[in-house]
Amino acid sequence: MSEETQSGFPKGKLMRGKRGLIMGVANKKSIAWGIAQQLHAQGAELGFTYQGEALEKRVRPLAESVDASMFMPCDVSDDASMDAAFATVKEQWGELDFLVHSIGFAGADGLKGSFVENVTRENFAMTMDISVFSFVAAANRAAPLMKPGSAMITMTYLGSERVIPNYNVMGVAKAALEASTRYIARDLGPKGIRVNAISAGPMRTLAMAGISGGRGMLSTGKAWSLLKEDTSMEGVAGSALWLLSDLGRSVAGEVVHVDAGFHAVGMPDEDALKG
Ligand SMILES: NC(=O)c1ccc[n+]([C@@H]2O[C@H](COP(=O)([O-])OP(=O)(O)OC[C@H]3O[C@@H](n4cnc5c(N)ncnc54)[C@H](O)[C@@H]3O)[C@@H](O)[C@H]2O)c1
Repeated sequence: MSEETQSGFPKGKLMRGKRGLIMGVANKKSIAWGIAQQLHAQGAELGFTYQGEALEKRVRPLAESVDASMFMPCDVSDDASMDAAFATVKEQWGELDFLVHSIGFAGADGLKGSFVENVTRENFAMTMDISVFSFVAAANRAAPLMKPGSAMITMTYLGSERVIPNYNVMGVAKAALEASTRYIARDLGPKGIRVNAISAGPMRTLAMAGISGGRGMLSTGKAWSLLKEDTSMEGVAGSALWLLSDLGRSVAGEVVHVDAGFHAVGMPDEDALKG
């Protein structure tokens, strides 16, 4: 059995000597925070970006608790803000071994009821900008700092492939994010940089709270899943570690489902239908 850290994440040396940027921690429930803790437990040196002033107070103590050597604001809807964040990475580290992009946003109108009636042009464009283009923009800035053997991941959800009630505009954005992952992976592959996505099952985070009927996603996720359990942060963080470490060698352009097997189910057990 591997030794565990205080955070509960298995300790090891898989990320020793690697430095990476974590984009998308809002609080201690954020998926990016679970991933960050796992990478830290395996010896990675971390830098964090946070969305803006309102979140700084929450994110700073988390970053300090894993001895982050870089901590800066980055609003991904603003090119100047993104340029500044990556200029800091270049100045302070010179190189980057990995990037975690765990960012998404859609206004409330895009996440309830009828997709075709509720989504507006503004909402559609904003969701695509923050939830999809931001990964392309981050990859574009990170790649020149990366050597062969480096890796990037982004976070997606099954609503890209199947209709999930209320997920609406975010499902469309996640489909574009997964396609972007493959195109970025194609561009950066010859440079030895691996780009992948994790399709996580529903988890109780701030982003999830914004989805109307999110609770149903959680309960159905568990009842229909092959493992009959919720998606765990440990499972998502473990897959992130695999993809970002040298264990993930030869994996590129992939969307890995980490959802207790929910994605594989075509028809649930009778019990799950009754429940
Ligand atoms: N929670 C789930 O069930 C679930 C499942 C699969 C995928 N995901 C995806 O995981 C990612 C992380 O979400 P989470 O569930 O950890 O929730 P979260 O709310 O903790 O994280 C979302 C992050 O996006 C950031 N963000 C939003 N707009 C931004 C902007 N303009 N500039 C910079 N940052 C911005 C927020 O500050 C926050 O840190 C998202 O892409 C989400 O769609 C979540």
